[in-house]
Amino acid sequence: MENQIIALRNEIAEKLQTVSDLQELDGLRVAYLGKKGSITTLLKGMKDLSPEEKKSFGAKVNELKEETTEKIEKKMEELKEAEIQKELSEMPLFDITTPADTDRGSYHPITLVQRQCETIFKSMGFAVIDYPEIVTDYECFEALNIPKHHPARDMQDTYYLTNGQLLKSHTSAAQNAILKKYGKNLKENGVPIKAIFPGRCFRNEATDACHENTFFQMEGVMVDKDISISNLIYFMKTMLSEVFRKDIKVRLRPGFFPFVEPGFELDISCLICGGEGCPSCKQSGWLELCPCGMIHPNVLREGGIDPDEYTGFAFGLGLTRLAMMKYGVKDIRNLNSGSLKALSQFTDDE
Ligand code: DAH
Repeated sequence: MENQIIALRNEIAEKLQTVSDLQELDGLRVAYLGKKGSITTLLKGMKDLSPEEKKSFGAKVNELKEETTEKIEKKMEELKEAEIQKELSEMPLFDITTPADTDRGSYHPITLVQRQCETIFKSMGFAVIDYPEIVTDYECFEALNIPKHHPARDMQDTYYLTNGQLLKSHTSAAQNAILKKYGKNLKENGVPIKAIFPGRCFRNEATDACHENTFFQMEGVMVDKDISISNLIYFMKTMLSEVFRKDIKVRLRPGFFPFVEPGFELDISCLICGGEGCPSCKQSGWLELCPCGMIHPNVLREGGIDPDEYTGFAFGLGLTRLAMMKYGVKDIRNLNSGSLKALSQFTDDE
């Protein structure tokens, strides 16, 4: 029996020397230490021995068992380490400072026109303000002279949250907060309110070539003493000639919006069809680009500004429409399509 132990110890040592991976090693563990393994069988076979033999032989087998367990564990550590080293050596080396050889990303056409407009208005002293997409009924309607159940709400159905808040249907929703915030400086220091606030807007309506449920506008307000329609027209004209860098035919016609009086629709001649009529301009040859007007006294009052002392204009530039006109995008739905093929071809030509 002693010989059996010696033979087994030699055999194990030999096998452990040649074992080359973890799976093979586990096979050896089972073969020697598993339920039916050689060492376990030796231990089981002891039941027929005399008590003395059991004592001395048992001790030796246990010694072999412990020794083998230890060796297998040590070998396992070695093999694991070797595997990691192998994996590391096979990993492709890459230099993080190497420029990517894939295509570079590009800005969405709406981002491009938004930035252009921001630059233009900033150069004319307007602050650019960010405003939430989720607003209250008060901000979106009531503060804008559109009381509950007013028919003007029909034009702007949107998406309501269960808590009564809503996704803003127009950037005008920021007007009240802005009048309140900057009105203090106007009244105390005589600094005119001049701000633009671009943002995403939502409407619950059917989509077609020129309507989407999600689109972008850029609202602007200017409030001071003696602001008139001439100021409004000056800023609109400057903005359009800067954005398009060419003469654009525009027309101003009366338009109704409860938060302005008088209110206008500023249309531009459709640049997709050259004014002939196409699906993008609903066959009219004109596109409503920038509704605007003189801020209604009720709106000024609600914003904490005395309409007898101050006047102001507001406009709601359709950034999405502007992008369509500037880049010749025929169908508004392309803009939200996420199609890189369609959207990555525009560049900032500034
Ligand atoms: N908020 C209006 C809309 O989305 C557009 C608008 C009209 C904004 C007249 C204005 C304005 O600031 O003066 O339908």
